[in-house]
Amino acid sequence: ATGTEPPIQRGGVRTGTRAAIGAAHLRTDRWWLAPAGTAAGLLAFIVYSTWRAFANTDYYAAPYVSPFYSPCLAENCAPMRDGPNLEIIGSWWGLSPALIILVFPLGFRLTCYYYRKAYYRGFWASPPACAVAEPHKKYSGETRFPLILQNLHRYFFYAALLVAVILTYDTVLTFRDEHYAWGHMGLGSLVFLVNVALIWAYTLSCHSCRHIVGGRLKHFSKHPVRYRLWGWVGRLNARHMQLAWASLVSVGLADFYVYLLASGAFDDPRLF
Ligand code: FES
Repeated sequence: ATGTEPPIQRGGVRTGTRAAIGAAHLRTDRWWLAPAGTAAGLLAFIVYSTWRAFANTDYYAAPYVSPFYSPCLAENCAPMRDGPNLEIIGSWWGLSPALIILVFPLGFRLTCYYYRKAYYRGFWASPPACAVAEPHKKYSGETRFPLILQNLHRYFFYAALLVAVILTYDTVLTFRDEHYAWGHMGLGSLVFLVNVALIWAYTLSCHSCRHIVGGRLKHFSKHPVRYRLWGWVGRLNARHMQLAWASLVSVGLADFYVYLLASGAFDDPRLF
């Protein structure tokens, strides 16, 4: 806090200091379509990922490990031929091992600037759309608990970098066959490749990343490397919303692909 923030508005948008307009809003388009679509999309992912995270089964089919379960840190992980199966958490952990690590990508997305806009609008109607008043009487923004915790986003960004590195490692391992020989490529390798590319693009397009790369500089001319990186990250950043959705869908699809293989519903077609 700088001490110069405007005072918290206690009466929402219907205080006496606002224009006295009788209509709830003056928009005539279907403004509710975007928040309703956003809420439906996020809800579908929440239902799917909750089912898969708690399922604790069908998350490994050599050489593929579901991104929801990697790295597997508990002793109760499914035996994997390779992959990051570190077992640093002992046998006392009896729940699904996905729950240990999902907190990091979940925290990253939950505190993401784009997702904040998406779920504030879609689920909390705060506000539901531009120029449509929110129904709440009080508004304290992100200055109070629990929303002040959104400031943790920059730390979740560092964790997300680590997650992206681990998913890259998992993707590289999909290019080995059942005899550990390099040169295998299944349809799953392609699915993993697309997913990891989208995860990297989403992670690097983060607003915190942009600030870390190019922020707090007085003269770009004295930092040409950071300036160039900042330009790249800025171009990705302009597509942050699209990358947020594309990577959300791709990570769900990668997990579902592993589920189909592990449950025996589908055989991975070998491309070469
Ligand atoms: Fe969306 Fe950082 S702002 S991931």
